[in-house]
Amino acid sequence: MPCLIVNRSTYEEITMKFFIDSANLDEIQSARDLGVLDGVTTNPSLIAKIVGDPSKFTYQDFKDHIARICEIVDGPVSAEVTCLETEEMIVEGEDLAAIHENVVIKCPLTINGLKAIRHFSEQGIRTNATLVFSPNQALLAAKAGASYVSPFIGRLDDISTDGMALVEQIVTIYDNYGYMTEVIVASVRHPQHVVDSAMLGADIATIPYSIIRQLVNHPLTDLGLKKFMEDAAVMKK
Ligand code: G3P
Repeated sequence: MPCLIVNRSTYEEITMKFFIDSANLDEIQSARDLGVLDGVTTNPSLIAKIVGDPSKFTYQDFKDHIARICEIVDGPVSAEVTCLETEEMIVEGEDLAAIHENVVIKCPLTINGLKAIRHFSEQGIRTNATLVFSPNQALLAAKAGASYVSPFIGRLDDISTDGMALVEQIVTIYDNYGYMTEVIVASVRHPQHVVDSAMLGADIATIPYSIIRQLVNHPLTDLGLKKFMEDAAVMKK
């Protein structure tokens, strides 16, 4: 049964949320159809994967694609700005935010990104601070008013650094001060990352579709089901 506690999700139901980390509409639809999807995260690299001919893919195509994702999933959809200067981020972010009320503006955790996050926060536009690799970056994101922070766990593991230790630090820091910024565990590479995220009380894991499917699987489930089906076959229909 969901409980009520006083922290990032004050007076709201405490649930772990699953986002899909993908811009592929088929994957997003399939994950949605599982009935456990709460939102979507995209980034320029994920968008690049769904583009057929890059010479024909325009900024308007990008916006149309984000709009289609919003039609599929009724939850936060992160769309990332594709510029480096604060003013440019603000212009692009406000334009993206106008696509749909569920659009969340993803900004890199840089000096300029931080300023843009503060601006969006003051405008009531939700943000996702991305490319976060340290607890201080996460603390800054929260202080700037980010709605979400995305520590990239897999990329830290890739360089022999404990990615989940960063999640633990961020969750502790946010709980210490009651920051409302929700922690999205990103760059998820395998099902154990999802287990660890849940054990640490991370608000959200954003998961590639292939890994969402893996969460379902267990060889003993397959084996047990095979036996049940064989035994059930003795019954007359
Ligand atoms: O959400 C961030 C994620 O897309 C990064 O994942 O696998 O490129 O490190 P990856």
